[in-house]
Amino acid sequence: MSITTTLSTTFTRLALGSAIMLASLGSVHAQDDDVKIGFIVKKPEQAWFINEQQAATEAGEELGFEVVRLGGEDGQEVLSAIDNLYAQGAQGFVICPPDVRLGPAIMNRARQYGMKVMTVDDQFVIASGEPMEDVPHLGMSGTKIGRQVGDAIAAEMDARGWNPEDVAALRITNNELPTAVERTDGATAALLEAGFPEGNIFDAPQQNSDTASAFSAASPVLSQNGDYEHWIIYALNEESVLGGVRATEQYGLAPEDVIGVGINGSGAAFAEFSRDNPTGFHGTVAVSSTMHGRQTAEDLYRWIAEDKMPPANTETSGVLMTRENWQDVREQLGL
Ligand code: GLA
Repeated sequence: MSITTTLSTTFTRLALGSAIMLASLGSVHAQDDDVKIGFIVKKPEQAWFINEQQAATEAGEELGFEVVRLGGEDGQEVLSAIDNLYAQGAQGFVICPPDVRLGPAIMNRARQYGMKVMTVDDQFVIASGEPMEDVPHLGMSGTKIGRQVGDAIAAEMDARGWNPEDVAALRITNNELPTAVERTDGATAALLEAGFPEGNIFDAPQQNSDTASAFSAASPVLSQNGDYEHWIIYALNEESVLGGVRATEQYGLAPEDVIGVGINGSGAAFAEFSRDNPTGFHGTVAVSSTMHGRQTAEDLYRWIAEDKMPPANTETSGVLMTRENWQDVREQLGL
């Protein structure tokens, strides 16, 4: 069962947590001086994950536990990170795995060491593809956020007065990752409901979740479908949408003929909104990576220190961020 948490209730939860922490500061600190957790992410150079790890570290500084930040870009790296954490005396870790199918292998290793594990962003799956529900998880509500992307694109197409028949959709897909499928399926559903022609949607399967892999996936799709006037672009995250936008630029499309809407609301989007001239990157559905990092680190800490099991599944929501409102939304989400 999943618990849907809006940003505001999640922030209330944070505030509550801090109040409880203050009330019991003395005793909690006395007994938990040596809690140490790992925070392992699949793409340590991506702005989303930098912020998430940073927020986890800050939560640790406030609550009195240590966070070891590690990258795990493939299975081997993740297993060595776990060995390394165990050798340092860590009692558990939060992880966004490089491949969700590594879940059982990661849990095997963690259980050998008696470590507690929580996933963030990308939930482990078992061999059949079902989520590993016995590992607590916090991640965005993929379908809902995907729908927000589709709605934002449809609204902007309307605002520009585009005839849907003249518009092609570049759907950058990542079928190995369930949250990615939920996000792009959610966007597709919203677009179809808004009257977008299904036959104008073209898939560009990417191998990864970054800008370079999206660029490579997008380029051939654009050149094979040269007879459309306008393009819309969506994907699992803004880094990938940016790869698509860069591909349209290289192909020679003008920014006013492109509407790309991403997901995350991290440094990659801020850099794009800060450029003097607007690009085809219209907006992004921003989710608080700060909250993801803080909340999972705090949940794991309380599990270790107070034996309080984290909620099985926390789903977070997002807010549309565009060139017009990005600074306000950034502040609102604590980014
Ligand atoms: C996935 C994506 C990231 C980010 C997170 C957020 O891991 O690869 O870019 O969107 O989800 O949950």
